[in-house]
Amino acid sequence: MAVWVLGFSSLSGSEGKKVFETYCWGCHHQTAVAFGPPFVQIAKKRSAEEIQAMITDPESVSKAFGYKRNAMPAFKLKREDLDAITQYILSYKNVKVQ
Ligand code: HEC
Repeated sequence: MAVWVLGFSSLSGSEGKKVFETYCWGCHHQTAVAFGPPFVQIAKKRSAEEIQAMITDPESVSKAFGYKRNAMPAFKLKREDLDAITQYILSYKNVKVQ
């Protein structure tokens, strides 16, 4: 378990970025608004659970989040990719944007 946690925390930075570049980059940017909201904004208002729920089932979750329509597709990610992208998004929590 300890080994797994260590491996996870050292991996998540680059793994999360890879998942982001593969699946999310077309619609989300880290600090700028794109088609979807930027990660800095998401990280400040959502928990890890909420982020993962949005990725796997956006159709139900976007309504609960206050969006009138859902424009984000659902993603079936491997468990480790889902964790990595969640960590990656949350790493923007304390990033300041001008
Ligand atoms: C086709 C464009 C598109 C892609 C690709 C996409 N998103 Fe989104 N995302 C959106 C849009 C648009 C919204 C705003 C809500 C909606 O319209 O459903 C959104 C909303 C979100 C939210 C919730 C925002 C909030 O209010 O908290 C999260 C979290 C999120 N996206 C994460 C991701 C992640 C992670 C990926 C990659 C695995 C991804 N998105 C890929 C378009 C996209």
